[in-house]
Amino acid sequence: MEHGRVPANLFVIFGAGGDLTQRKLLPALFRLAGQGVLGERYAVLAVARDASRDDVGFRALARSALAANGAATDATTAWCDRCLYYQPLAGPGPDAYRALGARIEAIERTLGLPGNRTFYLALPPSAFPETIARLGETGLNRAPGWVRLVVEKPFGRDLASARELNALVHRSFAESQVYRIDHYLGKETVQNLLVFRFANTVFESLWNRDRVENVQITVAEELGVGRRAGYYESAGALRDMVQNHLTQLLTLLAMEVPQSMDADSIRYEKAKVLRSISPLLREDLVLGQYTAGALRGQTVAGYREEPGMAPGSATETYVAVRVEIDSWRWQGVPFYLRTGKRMPRQLTQIAVTFRRPPVCLFQAFDACQIHPNRLFLTLQPDEGFALYFDVKKPGESMELETLPLHFHYKEAFGVLDDAYQTLLYDILVGDQTLFVHAEEAEGSWRLFDLPAARRPTLSMYAAGSWGPAQADALLAQRGHHWDVTTAP
Ligand code: BG6
Repeated sequence: MEHGRVPANLFVIFGAGGDLTQRKLLPALFRLAGQGVLGERYAVLAVARDASRDDVGFRALARSALAANGAATDATTAWCDRCLYYQPLAGPGPDAYRALGARIEAIERTLGLPGNRTFYLALPPSAFPETIARLGETGLNRAPGWVRLVVEKPFGRDLASARELNALVHRSFAESQVYRIDHYLGKETVQNLLVFRFANTVFESLWNRDRVENVQITVAEELGVGRRAGYYESAGALRDMVQNHLTQLLTLLAMEVPQSMDADSIRYEKAKVLRSISPLLREDLVLGQYTAGALRGQTVAGYREEPGMAPGSATETYVAVRVEIDSWRWQGVPFYLRTGKRMPRQLTQIAVTFRRPPVCLFQAFDACQIHPNRLFLTLQPDEGFALYFDVKKPGESMELETLPLHFHYKEAFGVLDDAYQTLLYDILVGDQTLFVHAEEAEGSWRLFDLPAARRPTLSMYAAGSWGPAQADALLAQRGHHWDVTTAP
């Protein structure tokens, strides 16, 4: 990716010892530094509760995290020693934040930084409110330069808590300072949805109820819940994946043409989609949980047997949902969203099925199983598009065959940047386009914050299958079926 330089700044990460910092944030910052876009005048201040650690100890930790990510040791050692600092946070009270403020000023003085600051909350969601409140109380929301607040997902756990969190954030920060992360928006292929739709007239003119029969979004993971019982038991797939990642994909697919490509115009159109969606009914939703099964030839445990799980847990690891958008463009076109853990293969794919021709002209040739044209946008892995259409098979008889036209990202561009690299860069240059606006966060909770009475009973599915049979029945009601391309 081509980058401009970012202004001199201090990047403060809360949750320095956590998985996200080690696996994603430090490698992304290191790569950006390697591309020269961070310039010479910047530093990263890692903050965590661990008082036994110091700058030297944190740099050692960071070096091994970067090595585990495949970065070269000489370069990482030099970068860690030059750019990384550590500040222990002595308790939740304001004094610890005042000490943090003093440390920030000291680093800025030493390095001659102008006071541009990012506060990245790579923390468990339960720690967001307190941290945000303290930043405000102790005046860390103001600085000689700009201040930006980055909040990881999930943003709230229902509509009420998302509203509360937004209110708390807005007490100390303007919306223009707030970057709510949904890492899906940083994926090249997700950003490309905007280019695909708004730079190519060929599809945009077909992107409506007259031409489209249904739209499907599949986010399938092979991974189970692993060792994340603590978090996952309080989340479930609806909160972990659907309310954020799948809903973001839905809004990008369904939004109207924005007035321009700036952050406000795009986010306004996305929020409008959410406002146009009818409330979900119980019959629009299927919730599932995996039981033991075979995946790639291995027997894998069921969800309830995973480490740390409650034996009778009712947490969903699979969701299928039918969404109707009450808009001029989409009225009557179902959007089907599904996501699950322990699916047969990892796949994030959008399938747009177009309407069949109104009349079948090939009846006489016994070839009337005309297939609808289908467009598949594969977001991962094997990123690209495939457009399926019918062709005449060579020969005397009039036989049709459905074949794809392909585009593969890797063939054209090689390896794509990691989503976090893109997102961190955007934060540092102050571009909010790929971040979730307060209104979007609440709008999507309005859809998925379901009272117990509207939650269907849990359906079980075997690990290694595509989910419960009820999810097939959901589509069959309208004569549809789940559609993904075959594995390459
Ligand atoms: C995270 C979820 O946000 O997204 C995980 O918490 C999930 O449960 C992950 O595995 C999927 O992300 P990706 O980029 O691998 O599709």
